[in-house]
Amino acid sequence: MTPRQTAHYFSQAPQAPSRPRVVELAFRGRRFQFLTDRGVFSYRGVDRGTRLLLEALEVRPEDEVLDLGCGYGVVGIVAASLAVRGRAVLVDINPRAVELARENARRCGVLNVEVLQGDLYGPVAGRTFDVIATNPPIRAGRAVVRAMVEGAPAHLKPGGSFYLVARTAQGAKTLGRLVAEVFGQAEEVERGGGYRVYRGTRRADSV
Ligand SMILES: C[S@@+](CC[C@H](N)C(=O)[O-])C[C@H]1O[C@@H](n2cnc3c(N)ncnc32)[C@H](O)[C@@H]1O
Repeated sequence: MTPRQTAHYFSQAPQAPSRPRVVELAFRGRRFQFLTDRGVFSYRGVDRGTRLLLEALEVRPEDEVLDLGCGYGVVGIVAASLAVRGRAVLVDINPRAVELARENARRCGVLNVEVLQGDLYGPVAGRTFDVIATNPPIRAGRAVVRAMVEGAPAHLKPGGSFYLVARTAQGAKTLGRLVAEVFGQAEEVERGGGYRVYRGTRRADSV
């Protein structure tokens, strides 16, 4: 790994000196506070794409949700707060992000979460979910993002849905076509502020 790569938010060993700060999110009448830090995605505040993804997510009270590439935990923690009788599993390759996500779940009083460090679907091998949500690491490269989409059906229960947000200027439509290719169909469920959210659903009768 080059010194340049270690500076990225998706690094397995962030080098940036720690400078924690708190950011806020108001969502459906509830206020969440998240601790963030340098060396993780969207240090200055909750990303617009992340907010749009949350608007699009349909989470039922019993759902098991996977937040793939969780950063400091916004999507998974908010999803877990909706899945009151279910839970959310949060995965990120960046250990600093994982520590923050664990701390943020405690801070938010959202205890039905499990935060795991690792690559892609590795930490949830053999497990399936009702919902998988990702704001994928475009800067990590096409192969990583492609693996997130292609790995989704095997980790969804029949009828489960995969949600992906991306910036239109960073190839969202191409990713929407990839979701359609992998799932046989894709819907654009939200669009705004230069972002698009796509949903692919695993057929309920698939095995
Ligand atoms: C665009 S950020 C989104 C973070 C968070 N979900 C949010 O919306 O604020 C993408 C995240 O994917 C993580 N990531 C990058 N490569 C990964 C991989 N191979 N496996 C798991 N997570 C990865 C990064 O560390 C980063 O936190």
